[in-house]
Amino acid sequence: MTSDREPVGVIGAGWVGLVTAACFADLGHEVHCRDIVPEKVESLARGEVPIYEPGLAELLASGGERLHFTTDMAEVLSSARLLFCCVDTPPTYSGDADLSRVESVLADLQGSRDHALVMKSTVPVGTGRWIRRHTPELGYVSNPEFLKEGTAVEDFMRPDRVVIGSDDGAAGFSDRVAALYEPLDAPIVRTDVASAEMIKLASNAFLATKISFINEIANVSEELGADVTEVARGMGLDERIGPQFLRAGIGYGGSCFPKDVSALKQLAGNSGYHFQLLTAVIEVNELQKRRTVGKLQKHLGSLVGKEIALLGVAFKPDTDDVREATSLVLAARLQSEGANVRVYDPVAAERSRELLGGATVAGSALEALDRADGAVLVTEWPEFRDLDWAGEVRQRMANPLIVDGRNFLDASIMRDAGFTYEGVGR
Ligand code: UGA
Repeated sequence: MTSDREPVGVIGAGWVGLVTAACFADLGHEVHCRDIVPEKVESLARGEVPIYEPGLAELLASGGERLHFTTDMAEVLSSARLLFCCVDTPPTYSGDADLSRVESVLADLQGSRDHALVMKSTVPVGTGRWIRRHTPELGYVSNPEFLKEGTAVEDFMRPDRVVIGSDDGAAGFSDRVAALYEPLDAPIVRTDVASAEMIKLASNAFLATKISFINEIANVSEELGADVTEVARGMGLDERIGPQFLRAGIGYGGSCFPKDVSALKQLAGNSGYHFQLLTAVIEVNELQKRRTVGKLQKHLGSLVGKEIALLGVAFKPDTDDVREATSLVLAARLQSEGANVRVYDPVAAERSRELLGGATVAGSALEALDRADGAVLVTEWPEFRDLDWAGEVRQRMANPLIVDGRNFLDASIMRDAGFTYEGVGR
């Protein structure tokens, strides 16, 4: 067996696990992926893909005979030595990460001596040290993931960097993990476990900080007559700042930023340090969602009995993920103000029906906009740009008011078409 064809174990066939499994199989490795849910394993074995992620279904199909799905941990242990832990670590009510799934993986690995657990799940700083203390016979490597939903396959295959953390005694395993990534030709950051864990949390917290910062610049720009999209363009050309993550909008959502920013804040607090900046980042994000309601009220007055269309439910385009999606907060807030809410999303609306309270799920954007007193663009799905705004939409809406929560539409075209257009910070 050559090192670059080392068999790989993947524990957890969720979004991170499936992308990891499919990509390692594509790189030529035998991959043994274990999940505790039999129905999921059976449908994966039949070639069905339970999540929407561009390119994933194709990779899983082409991985063919190199990919094995099972519920049986013993099968994985007998086939692979490196076990990538890809179970989720959702937030608890306190904002700390819930490690119960990681703990049950550890329970399943009791007694394994020749294996290393390679942690891809996002865990609090100190988790690796704690695991080493409790299961010293198991090798331990931290290998955080930096995948973005919607571009996860591309992010895996062309990473900005690969972070590999190990402490004394696990160097052999971490060399083997590093060898798996060699074909990707990316910078490899080798460090201790705690620093690797911190790199993950600090990266997400920094990106969230960038978003809350530009959102505050947007809010001030609205008052002072500047255009935040121009401001961001001018700022982003400074190489020290960079153009990425400077898109002002109605706040960040998703399964990672809200959770990881809170987790880092809690972690700091538990260690006796008050992380003031992150407290503000979280607060700005919450307020940003609510400002949208104020923009509708500015034009419509009371929202009681008003028909409001929400375009987009997913927390961002190219995913059906609605975890911590701004749309859910908006739908609830608008309904509590007395509005009748109609939502449309090309992939995510149907599955989030229960989370949308009494909102009506429309079958198309036009159906959602029909006779609406106002509309909010929540998710920047490309099809929303292609709508016939000046023609059919304008005719169908009872009142041509659009709050563009992502600065996605062309403000001057919309205004020329007779719309009252409210962007974010412009
Ligand atoms: C994020 C990170 O970008 C990944 O590097 C990381 O691996 C992942 O979390 C994770 O920890 O698993 P993701 O949650 O998929 O990825 O989504 P992003 O594309 O980062 O967007 C997050 C949110 O920020 C979205 O709601 C998006 O609309 C918002 N956003 C992003 C803005 O409001 N403005 C921007 O300029 C960029």
